[in-house]
Amino acid sequence: MKTVLSGIRSTGHLHLGNYFGALRNFVQLQHKAKCYFFIADLHSLTTHPKPVDFHSGVKTILSEYLASGLDPEKSTLFVQSSVPQVCELYVLLNMLTYKGELERTTSFKDKVRLNPDNVNAGLLTYPVLMAADILVHRADWVPVGKDQEQHLEITRLLARRFNKLYEVPVFPEPEAYNFGSDLVKIPGLDGSGKMGKSEENGIYLVDDQKTITKKVMRAVTDSGPVVPGSPMNPGVANLFTILGVVSEPEVVRYFREQYDNCTIRYGDLKKQLAADICRHTLPIKARIEEIYNNGPYLKYVIEKGTEEARTSARATMELVRDAVGFKSF
Ligand code: TYM
Repeated sequence: MKTVLSGIRSTGHLHLGNYFGALRNFVQLQHKAKCYFFIADLHSLTTHPKPVDFHSGVKTILSEYLASGLDPEKSTLFVQSSVPQVCELYVLLNMLTYKGELERTTSFKDKVRLNPDNVNAGLLTYPVLMAADILVHRADWVPVGKDQEQHLEITRLLARRFNKLYEVPVFPEPEAYNFGSDLVKIPGLDGSGKMGKSEENGIYLVDDQKTITKKVMRAVTDSGPVVPGSPMNPGVANLFTILGVVSEPEVVRYFREQYDNCTIRYGDLKKQLAADICRHTLPIKARIEEIYNNGPYLKYVIEKGTEEARTSARATMELVRDAVGFKSF
């Protein structure tokens, strides 16, 4: 049986990118594989959140996971910082990772550009901690969005390097996973880039119908194609990308034809898009608050998951420590 693992940082609220990039694939897989899903609270520390906000951030993301369909009886749900073996493996993998390899990572270069005053070592070694998350459970498949592809490449590199150096096949080489053929990148509604938690260009699973409709109606477009075959404005292309994920193929075809023959009315496209987004997200939204307020249930889910995750991580670390040469006297 395959082992599947994925995680999401513990800041903000889950958005369409998180859902269609990672969560939905995971929810589908949990019926046929051994699945681990965790909240990456250590990764969130790179931006120094206030301690008072930290725990509620974890609780919010956990409630949104569960509302999205993660089943704690099928999957193991846990918080990254409660499995100390992750940090131990992170230290060991850091010894096998070269500074130049990390400096070349696109995500690191982006973070440096956006936040030049906070280039901490945790940001540089972010992919190594992510590799530790994955390898400590010896995962085969990792459902993630396209932005994480390079991190998975580094994870495979470290798995290979460890196995080769210590001459033992401890780690499988995990693959980024999507049910469709390609990994998904959901763009923002501001005409550029990807939808993000901190970019204020997103639709969140907690948004109500009115908010979703307002955000979509305000999304960047142009005044419509004038000549058939003219290149698509990036904002319009983004709306079609989201439509391709949330709507039925015939709906996408219908609007694409209208675009191609220059009769499209963006108001109609946006109304359809908002309705199709709501169809996916509103049933999730309806469950979030009740789960968030059910303290005993959240405690049960996390205690059960933590125990399972620690057992799995301990088993891997026994192999790792043995391979490295840590022996007891
Ligand atoms: P985070 O919280 O930034 O993103 C969580 C997941 O959501 C996906 N995602 C997207 N997918 C498509 N379009 C988007 N606009 C979009 N935005 C986010 C991300 O690809 C990711 O799958 N580093 C991870 C957290 C992590 C992790 C791990 C994941 C830490 N350790 C180990 C998998 C395995 C991250 O980016 O979180």
